[in-house]
Amino acid sequence: MKKICFINGSPKTTESFSLYMIDYVSKALDASYEKPIMVNALKLLNAPNKENVFEKILSCTAIVVVFPLYIDSLPSSLLEMLESLDIYQKSHPVSSANTSCLYGLVNCGFIEGHQNINALKILENYAKAVKFKWCGGIGLGGGEMIRSTKDQIPLQSKMSLPIYHALCSLIESINELKVIPSESPVQFANHNFPKWLFMFMANRVWISSSKMNGITKKMLYAKPHTD
Ligand SMILES: Cc1cc2nc3c(=O)[nH]c(=O)nc-3n(C[C@H](O)[C@H](O)[C@H](O)COP(=O)(O)O)c2cc1C
Repeated sequence: MKKICFINGSPKTTESFSLYMIDYVSKALDASYEKPIMVNALKLLNAPNKENVFEKILSCTAIVVVFPLYIDSLPSSLLEMLESLDIYQKSHPVSSANTSCLYGLVNCGFIEGHQNINALKILENYAKAVKFKWCGGIGLGGGEMIRSTKDQIPLQSKMSLPIYHALCSLIESINELKVIPSESPVQFANHNFPKWLFMFMANRVWISSSKMNGITKKMLYAKPHTD
């Protein structure tokens, strides 16, 4: 049977979109896979048995790195974990016949899925450096919105269809251990939703969350360092 590992790169300790996606994709895997290995990048960094976990990750046929976009890149905890995996792999080389397929699933706060392009390129370069087989990835926009409306706007609804199709493409590729089929091995998707309305709602969320943390709208817009 094939082995698969999901690396959760979200540093959030509570509910995250990355975790929701891992749950969604892992439930759609076919019976050719064993029960997935779940790794939290941040927790692994501080774990005493890191080497055992690295060994398990490297024994997998497929590795799926699922993470949020942080400043157009990967969260630093995920970068550090991937670097440690690289160091471990170089000192414990596996035969090229056992090369793992690497997939990426990135999500960002902005509505446009293509904002994730640089993060997926970083992951592609990492795959080449570590000698994983790069099988592509998907970049989803509006992650917070998808997660917070998941009970009201199911992934198969008209508004979410681009996201649903990108996920189906990723799942099919993982199941068949192939490169994501498209002009390039990366796909981007977001809700069919007007950008102006998204911005309007996102701004309101910032203001209400600030209020809950004792910050007024005036304080939010303060520019203490201008003349
Ligand atoms: C430190 C930090 C940096 C971020 N940088 C970006 C960014 O460059 N572009 C973007 O669209 N969203 C950015 N976001 C938003 C996250 O990508 C977004 O909230 C995502 O849905 C979180 O996913 P998660 O729930 O899986 O952690 C950033 C969030 C944080 C906390």
